[in-house]
Amino acid sequence: MANIAVLGYGTVGSGVVEVLRTNRESINKRAGDEIHVKYVLDLREFEGDPVQEILVHDFNIILQDPEVDIVVEVMGGVEPAYTFTKEALLAGKSVCTSNKELVAKHGAELLAIAKEKHLNYLFEASVGGGIPIIRPLNSSLTADEITEITGILNGTTNYILTEMAEKGAAFEDVLKDAQDKGYAERNPEADVEGYDACRKIAILTSLVVGEQVDYEKIHTEGITKITEKDFQYAKALKASIKLLGTSKKIDGTFYSMVAPVMIGEQHPLISVNGVFNGIFVHGNVLDDVMFYGRGAGKLPTASAVVSDVVDAVKHKGCNIMTIWDERKNNLGKYEDLPNRFFVRIKDQNTQDLLSGIQEAFGEVSYVKVPEITGELAFLTKELREGDFAEKIAGFDDVYSVIRVDF
Ligand code: HSE
Repeated sequence: MANIAVLGYGTVGSGVVEVLRTNRESINKRAGDEIHVKYVLDLREFEGDPVQEILVHDFNIILQDPEVDIVVEVMGGVEPAYTFTKEALLAGKSVCTSNKELVAKHGAELLAIAKEKHLNYLFEASVGGGIPIIRPLNSSLTADEITEITGILNGTTNYILTEMAEKGAAFEDVLKDAQDKGYAERNPEADVEGYDACRKIAILTSLVVGEQVDYEKIHTEGITKITEKDFQYAKALKASIKLLGTSKKIDGTFYSMVAPVMIGEQHPLISVNGVFNGIFVHGNVLDDVMFYGRGAGKLPTASAVVSDVVDAVKHKGCNIMTIWDERKNNLGKYEDLPNRFFVRIKDQNTQDLLSGIQEAFGEVSYVKVPEITGELAFLTKELREGDFAEKIAGFDDVYSVIRVDF
């Protein structure tokens, strides 16, 4: 029998217990052992829920029980999850988690402890919810040099942007509606400012480069400045706007960023809508591969966590090698990234402005939407981020700047 303890009985934790109950037979068969939830740790009481019988409030009970083989950490946040995870690994227990904050910040260190102790630290659910992406990067795609990984990594923002695109609604209205429906958190900052996607692309990039990529070093922009008018222009261009987390290898160096991007009909992520996530990977021998599915939610996320539990049971006493060293990776400077830009600017009705645009950005393509007046909108050619920032700073009344990929 493999005994597990679940830390946190929130959405994901209760999902893990439910998945283990619903698919008990097939899960046990695949694991080659019977998986038994011995404890659930939570500060709260759950009167009327059978979980109450195995509920504990003190982590030390789990830590000191030699029968617990695997700890499922689904508490979220860095502390106390970091301390609990470290203590569990040091006490000889494998850990499976959905905690992207913790994996992004301390993944390399926790993997090193797991390796040293012949245990496993597994985190399939930390990126893309139920979508398999960590395991494919770690095992299926090992023949390739990965040169690009670009994803719609946040379901909340993808839902908001999809609603804005389809209904012509304003960001604030869609956010409020998403909060009322329970899709968006009451404090939506981590999602709408791009921080959540930033941690996820940092995890994926760390796995691709095999070194620690600090998320604090990744240039991150959220979706709060995207307006209905931006979507009107996107529609005129047969494009849409998506929050992308991207890492690309250019001349031997990886460049990462998170920002809203206007993508065209041909882009592989154009049809990833609503709360779904999509991740595009390019390898030098495989070429393109796509991963698509539910990036959040109780059961999809629990499905990924339980798949890790099965792997941990199957690999008892044997570390699944994951190349993610604590050494810091030197990402390329974001200012050196080449990008095209969509710009909206107040129309001064002067030749000076048109000449100024041409002088700053060279030939640009103007975009017209008949219903929108009083502004100029144009697409630039490819420019270094740093050069673009310097040039656009010379203009007053810039309404919008969005990267373009088509
Ligand atoms: N807030 C996240 C999202 C949850 O909206 O994608 C899954 O990490």
